[in-house]
Amino acid sequence: MTEQVPSKVDMDKLVSLCKRRGFIFPSSEIYGGLGACYDYGPLGVELKNNVKKAWWKAAVQDRDDMVGLDASILMHPQTWVASGHVEGFADPLVDCKQCHQRWRADHIKDGKCPACGGELTEPRMFNLMFKTFVGPVEDEASVVYLRPETAQGIFVNFQNVLNSTRRKLPFGIAQMGKSFRNEITTGNFIFRMREFEQMEIEYFVKPGTDEQWFKHWVEQRFNWYSNLGIKKENLRLRQHTKDELAHYARDCYDIEYLFPIGWSELEGIANRTDFDLKQHSKYSGKDLSYFDEETKEHIMPYVIEPSAGVDRSVLAFLADSYDEEKDKEGLRVILRLHYALAPIKATVLPLSRNEKLLPLSKEVYDSLRKCWMVQYDDAQSIGRRYRRQDEIGTPFCVTIDFQSLEDRQVTIRERDKMRQIRVPIEVLKSTLEAKLGGEPLDVLPAGGKKWLGFE
Ligand code: GAP
Repeated sequence: MTEQVPSKVDMDKLVSLCKRRGFIFPSSEIYGGLGACYDYGPLGVELKNNVKKAWWKAAVQDRDDMVGLDASILMHPQTWVASGHVEGFADPLVDCKQCHQRWRADHIKDGKCPACGGELTEPRMFNLMFKTFVGPVEDEASVVYLRPETAQGIFVNFQNVLNSTRRKLPFGIAQMGKSFRNEITTGNFIFRMREFEQMEIEYFVKPGTDEQWFKHWVEQRFNWYSNLGIKKENLRLRQHTKDELAHYARDCYDIEYLFPIGWSELEGIANRTDFDLKQHSKYSGKDLSYFDEETKEHIMPYVIEPSAGVDRSVLAFLADSYDEEKDKEGLRVILRLHYALAPIKATVLPLSRNEKLLPLSKEVYDSLRKCWMVQYDDAQSIGRRYRRQDEIGTPFCVTIDFQSLEDRQVTIRERDKMRQIRVPIEVLKSTLEAKLGGEPLDVLPAGGKKWLGFE
């Protein structure tokens, strides 16, 4: 449940910006949409890919104790019996006897229907897994589920990864991909979707070292968000109480973010003990233990699981970076996204549509877009074009003016403080590369100078 604390950002503003600028659209909107399903537009797909890239870098590339995996969404149905999902992955559901809307019983405060105040039915359990069929016959024997978490794809491949990579404990397997849940309570934009993406790690350790690794991962994952620009005051850790813990967990922390809907879960980090490997050993009849060379014993590893949502992360990064500034031209809306996450890294702007500026502007644009996602914009006044880029979080605008034709120099304007420098075109690419990597704007390249009002 979310705690109602006012966030500084309004959800309606975010939803409207996402639609207007092509980040996120309701799914199949021309048919009226489909509840809790969303599509990522041209800028949204870049942002989302950048979030996943940043996660993969931190989870796999930067560590020598991690490997990746991409398991299929459809799995043998016994997987979900062993994991406990067939039996227990259910929410208590109540129906309104008057307006027939359905609600999660644990989200009801006064025993009445939140929509019409009508009387509610007794709660009954509703399994959240989507069912479908493999092959042409739709009978019980061909039922499969769309995975409700990516985690189980990792557990069932534990021995495959172990045998093919000769890893020693401790080591982890990372995976990201789609998961599906037939959620009952929806309606908070991409916070709770029926089709969403997860980024999950299963980190296998020797029993007895699990608490130490649990602390390690809680810290690592918390820092990942703040290193990517999320304000510390909008992040907090919350330990699960005993009665909240999932059936497989010995301990669990949620990383919570102050979303526009209040403090809510962004990621969960659980100590899953040896529950899953033991269950899959039992149900598959395959030995999933690990042979410890030191003690010459077979052991069942314990598992630490940091489990994050891609879409919830996207929402948190959008909400946290949203800013408005009043100035003489009205309201400047800015997405102060971390440079690594910004969908467009730079935009090339000829000062006007004068055709003399065209060849050089295209030359600069063509050379930059080989390196990054770069836009070209020559419509409307330069001021309005800067505003458009601020609103989508573009860190740098490169402007070509008439003087550029004489001296082959261009101005670089940065998003956050709107300061400018002027640099020779020959060093433009290397300068942008350095600035995108975090070099301060006032560190100037050879031939570069501060420009227009830069103190
Ligand atoms: N394997 C553990 C697991 O799946 P979870 O807390 O159910 O744990 C992990 O999910 C993360 O996945 C959540 O913290 C959230 O970020 C994301 N998530 C879960 N359900 C979601 C939904 N319906 N829509 C969007 N994200 C969701």
